[in-house]
Amino acid sequence: MVGLHDATRGRLLFGGDYNPEQWPESVWQEDIRLMREAGVTLATVGVFSWAAIEPRPGARNTGWLDRVLDLLHGAGIGVCLATPTAAPPPWLGALHPETLPRDESGTVLWYGSRNQFCASSPVYREHAARITEDLARRYGAHPALRLWHINNEYGTACWCDTTAAHFRAWLRARHGTLQALNTDWGTAFWSQRYGDWNEILPPRRAPYLVNPAQVLDFRRFTSDALLECFTAERDIVAAHSPGVPVTTNFMPLFAGQDGWRWAAEEDVVSVDVYPDPAAAHDDPAGPAHGALVHDLTRSQAGGPWALMEQAASAVNWRPVNQPKPAGTMRLWSLQAVARGADAICFFQWRASRQGSEKFHSAMLPHAGEHSRSFREIRDLGAELARLAPAHGTQVAAGIAVLHDWPAWWAADQPGRPSAEARYPELLAAWHHALWQRNLTCDLAHPEARLTGYRMVVIPQLYLLTDAALDGIAAYVRGGGTLVCGFFTGVADADDRVREGGTDARLRRVLGLETVHEWWPLAPGATVAMSDGTAGRIWSEDLEPAGARTVATYAEGELSGRPAITRHTYGRGTAWYVSTLPEPAALAALLAGAAEEAGVVPALPGLPAGVEAVRRGTLLFLLNHTRAPVTVRLPSPHTDTLTGHTHPAELTLDRHGVAALTPHTPHT
Ligand code: GAL
Repeated sequence: MVGLHDATRGRLLFGGDYNPEQWPESVWQEDIRLMREAGVTLATVGVFSWAAIEPRPGARNTGWLDRVLDLLHGAGIGVCLATPTAAPPPWLGALHPETLPRDESGTVLWYGSRNQFCASSPVYREHAARITEDLARRYGAHPALRLWHINNEYGTACWCDTTAAHFRAWLRARHGTLQALNTDWGTAFWSQRYGDWNEILPPRRAPYLVNPAQVLDFRRFTSDALLECFTAERDIVAAHSPGVPVTTNFMPLFAGQDGWRWAAEEDVVSVDVYPDPAAAHDDPAGPAHGALVHDLTRSQAGGPWALMEQAASAVNWRPVNQPKPAGTMRLWSLQAVARGADAICFFQWRASRQGSEKFHSAMLPHAGEHSRSFREIRDLGAELARLAPAHGTQVAAGIAVLHDWPAWWAADQPGRPSAEARYPELLAAWHHALWQRNLTCDLAHPEARLTGYRMVVIPQLYLLTDAALDGIAAYVRGGGTLVCGFFTGVADADDRVREGGTDARLRRVLGLETVHEWWPLAPGATVAMSDGTAGRIWSEDLEPAGARTVATYAEGELSGRPAITRHTYGRGTAWYVSTLPEPAALAALLAGAAEEAGVVPALPGLPAGVEAVRRGTLLFLLNHTRAPVTVRLPSPHTDTLTGHTHPAELTLDRHGVAALTPHTPHT
């Protein structure tokens, strides 16, 4: 099967987006010299180059691209060639305004920026296919070509009339008849019944809450419509370059695509990660969030993945854009390698002097090659070359965290018990708790095979399909450990409430009779529990039936009622957590459950802020704190990055990293 290994060819890739069309050719030679100096092995070319390649409708201007690819190839640098379809030229919008997207209110999103295309527009698709076909014909066999990069961060939703017609066709395929659609959407409510397919619209701006099942289907549809654009271009390039893998770069934990469905269509799963440097020192969730995105991307890929974009230092799109403190660009890059990345790339190679991103950092900043930032880039290039033993290897994880986009789309809508329960924050809080204890986890689709995991964690899955519920029940019955967060299994695939507070199958697994009522907490409020800890965001009035109460609420209306329960089901164990325990309490709860389930941390007993992950034969240790830390080792280890052997302990500098292998003395 074609995959990332076809692009990496035995070593970790290192590089970034390269936009030579924004520079005079005289600068290109310097680019090549400095890329070589930095150890760059991959340049992503053409991401937004549509107007440079097709300056007028149907014209082709590829001479510059020929020269760029040849130059890179001559320097031994591979090319990740992008289709330029994320940035249609102004002429397309001017000639064909119907290719421009419209928002919920019908307002046109004009050219003059990027991403101004309607995924349902046949005219856009035709123009995109034509330029893709020409690029694939011209460069499909170019010796520099390592990877195809389709479009960029797909995500533009559209509510126009063309989209409406496309949505209706999609709905026919999903629901079959109009009667079934009316039933599935519950249109008896508020007189929303449709008597004709042509009456159905995308969920446009309305006086009050829009039908939630319609919104859910529209999000599914938008993801699928964008995916059709991806697969159309993918099939074109694949036909001209067998053996060259194809990717499109995801945004991290992005709501606009069903990431499981998308990943299944890619040869290489890649993601863009932009942690806030301001979080490096003050916010412990900063590096944990990176770990969550890495774990998710690795799980989507089912193995090694590509970090397609990150910033060398500051970005330009936060209200305040701070540079990355010394050492953190390296730390976060190596964190990605530790968690399965085989390619570490940046946006972008050379900092622009014009345009909206001229204050975004780059591998080669405005300050030039004699800068801290370029030195750190060059050093990273050298270190990645030393990390060849990591290439192609797997990350060991004994825990699966269940995650799904439709559950997110259904849960994070207005009209729910609490707007404080936000899906991505709950997911991040639970993942953070595991991360803190160095319990490495994969993320998994709720219908995935779970038998390979000793423990399964559900932070929250408001929507669960029948297949997912059956699979989860079978997993616990067969001996698995489940830790399940609140407001899970509440709705079916059409956002129809399953009565009893949660699905009956899940209640049997959890040993619960019913959930009488949800009692969400006021913003910022906490509720004390009998074990001395406190919960946030949510509480529930539970009625156990077989489950043992582990902790009760200790104040308020639910005082004395169960908060956390535990139940033996078949050969397995199921915990239910009806609030969001404060961070230390959640970490302790998960660590206890993991220990009982036989899951061991990557390295136990580490000081706070030190991350440990095992990848292949390497044990990565990453110091996310600003002070040096000393770590005791179970046996002598050698650091692949420095070549030094550490008999019993090792001191990591501020933001230091080690990639250790057990030391085998020569005999
Ligand atoms: C990414 C995008 C890049 C660049 C970067 C800036 O989301 O793919 O083209 O805009 O952000 O941080």
